[in-house]
Amino acid sequence: MERIAREILSPDERKYLIKHVDIIGDIAVIKIHPFLIKKRFLIAKCLLKMLPNVRVVYRQVAPTSGSYRIRGLEWLAGERRSITKVKEYGCSFIVDIERTFYTPRLSYEHMRVARLVRSGEVVVNMFAGIGPFSIIIAKYAEPRVVYSIDINPVAYELMKRNIEINKVADKVIPIHGDAATVVLRELINKADRVLLPLPMLALKYLPFALLALKSQGGFLHLYVNVFVPKDEKPCKRAERLCSIALNALQVDCEVTSCRRVRSIGPRLTQIVMDIFVRKGYCLNSLISSP
Ligand SMILES: C[S@@+](CC[C@H](N)C(=O)[O-])C[C@H]1O[C@@H](n2cnc3c(N)ncnc32)[C@H](O)[C@@H]1O
Repeated sequence: MERIAREILSPDERKYLIKHVDIIGDIAVIKIHPFLIKKRFLIAKCLLKMLPNVRVVYRQVAPTSGSYRIRGLEWLAGERRSITKVKEYGCSFIVDIERTFYTPRLSYEHMRVARLVRSGEVVVNMFAGIGPFSIIIAKYAEPRVVYSIDINPVAYELMKRNIEINKVADKVIPIHGDAATVVLRELINKADRVLLPLPMLALKYLPFALLALKSQGGFLHLYVNVFVPKDEKPCKRAERLCSIALNALQVDCEVTSCRRVRSIGPRLTQIVMDIFVRKGYCLNSLISSP
């Protein structure tokens, strides 16, 4: 982007060029300041020439939103497609950046959780997307099974393809639907570990994650976004949020780890809490519709 700035922009325009580029497989996603909007196609063509491994350039026009967590995109240059292949830890994933959620910024988290899974565990991934957590767990740990749920039909179809490509069909069961409904229908008392990698719904769906855990308890991986005022630690704030929710459900538990996953915006941070739950509450009190 520095080179583009020098080659095609005037000194006055240069200060408006947003230099960050997201690379997803062979697709680049850039942001354009309104001051440079008329030059967006030129900037994209230039970027395409400079990055030999990039075949498509998109511009992000809106942040991730909606229940499928999809970002608003505008095609700018290169091949007319939104599907690409990405690699994480030797696993391949087909991603559709216009119709499914995917960010390489969760890659460390995918492997971190996989390393915690013990041999023979039953895992429920309530918000699986195109499947990276589930598939990396199946490849690198020895789970008995991973139930991998997503409500977006396109993400579900890609998750099925990704399960095939990575040869983990004996370990990962893809399920299309709302995670709460799926748990109530078929996963009560089944899991040693439940993943809730969707900050928007994690606390609301906590009762269903608890229902999915086996009667002897197990682990939760709870992702939340916290707005942090100056001088406050994001983890402290997340733990407080989470303990209010867990106390209300009368759950005996312990936060075993709390870490910052990524920055989401100004003062907005994504946090993951690993929580060990000793099951000792009345299941019926948890059952209500989502
Ligand atoms: C943040 S993305 C998941 C990311 C994925 N785990 C990864 O690591 O790439 C959240 C996913 O939850 C799905 N989702 C949203 N609401 C849901 C629900 N009620 N039940 C199941 N999945 C849901 C969305 O379609 C989206 O794919």
